[in-house]
Amino acid sequence: MNILIIGSGGRESALAYKISQSPKLSQLFIAPGNAGTTEYGQNVPLKVTDFDGIAAFALENGINMVIVGPEEPLVKGIHDYFLGREDLKHIPVIGPQQQGAQLEGSKDFSKQFMARHHIPTAASRSFDKSTLADGLTYLEYQSLPIVLKADGLAAGKGVLICETLEDAKAELTAMLADAKFGEASSTVVIEEFLTGIELSVFVLTDGESYKVLPSAKDYKRIGEGDTGLNTGGMGSISPVPFADEAFLSKVEERVIKPTIDGLKKDGIPYKGFIFIGLMNMAGDPYVIEYNVRLGDPETESVLPRIEADLVDLFSGVAEGNLSERSFSVSPKTAVTVMMVSGGYPGDYESGKVISNIENVKESIVFHAGTTVNEAGEVVTAGGRVIAVTTLQDDLFTALQQATADAGRIFYEGKYFRTDIGFDII
Ligand code: AMP
Ligand code: GLY
Repeated sequence: MNILIIGSGGRESALAYKISQSPKLSQLFIAPGNAGTTEYGQNVPLKVTDFDGIAAFALENGINMVIVGPEEPLVKGIHDYFLGREDLKHIPVIGPQQQGAQLEGSKDFSKQFMARHHIPTAASRSFDKSTLADGLTYLEYQSLPIVLKADGLAAGKGVLICETLEDAKAELTAMLADAKFGEASSTVVIEEFLTGIELSVFVLTDGESYKVLPSAKDYKRIGEGDTGLNTGGMGSISPVPFADEAFLSKVEERVIKPTIDGLKKDGIPYKGFIFIGLMNMAGDPYVIEYNVRLGDPETESVLPRIEADLVDLFSGVAEGNLSERSFSVSPKTAVTVMMVSGGYPGDYESGKVISNIENVKESIVFHAGTTVNEAGEVVTAGGRVIAVTTLQDDLFTALQQATADAGRIFYEGKYFRTDIGFDII
């Protein structure tokens, strides 16, 4: 098979790494990819939302399957685009159509979906510009802190946790009246603040049956001890020690099954990943959010633990017989440490030469924000630069190894957290 992966981050590197091991693979392409994905396949200089360009490339190169990494092309309808064209509709796309992608593309849609199907989540109400006054009044009756969420995609910045009523009112006004996040905040979900420990559960579904992938926890804050600004993710571990069998069976019964059944009841076709962000509140799971893709950097911890031909699982999704496929999970613990550019998640410089990757012997180095410059050097090209993943027999050894290996790679301004996962030991 010829396979095309859409995306360019650490997640797509991990997908490419895993797919390159498939005996079913003939040629692998990554659009646009990064400096590391060329180890597994061929990069194609196309934007992830350039559907015409992607289609032309797929036809010219006999692509048999498209795997979509990030949410933006899904929310913009790449799968519908393929289904809607006579010459493309035979090429399966892994990732939901636009309707299903609303689970991530609209927080209001996902809250209504959860309410309709009795899936545990924080209490909430949605407001738009015309109901701003009601929203401001509603805030007065809520406990603090309170969570404000821009309805649409806001590059991971659309969730605000407000500690005071004044702050909450000012932010709600900024979002609704002053379009703080543009079109994305034309509707705002006001949501109860949940306390507990977060984790992520990934499900792969063909719309009928599903497979639950290993659980993972990511570390979102920039600073040691989980302090400072939110980022895309600074590291991850899998499995999550507190997500034991009893907790995961609650997740399956209360969240996963009603989600898959809910999609069916609502007549929403869905072929792809569902990433469920959960809060473990005293042993009970509550959904914080759905994403319609794999998480980054969770993928870098989760995929190396899956002992199966990923292409076989994806074929099951495409053909609607996922229930006939199986995989096993490595008992080892995976830890991923994300190396970022100095200044991230604020302003940072790019183009810094990366060296000493070859010093890493006991971890997998997944490139994220990297590219090759005119001199042929591998350089930084984003906030999140490299994900270092190791698989070890126990969590402590894995934490030590991944952290030490991140220390072995060099570029000017490099930063990574040295405390990923130590809160759990
Ligand atoms: P999101 O952009 O939806 O991933 O939200 C970003 C982060 O905000 C989540 O990972 C949580 O840490 C936090 N968050 C979102 N909703 C809530 C909530 N209802 N209670 C507590 N924390 C939340
Ligand atoms: N690591 C969180 C995300 O991918 O959204």
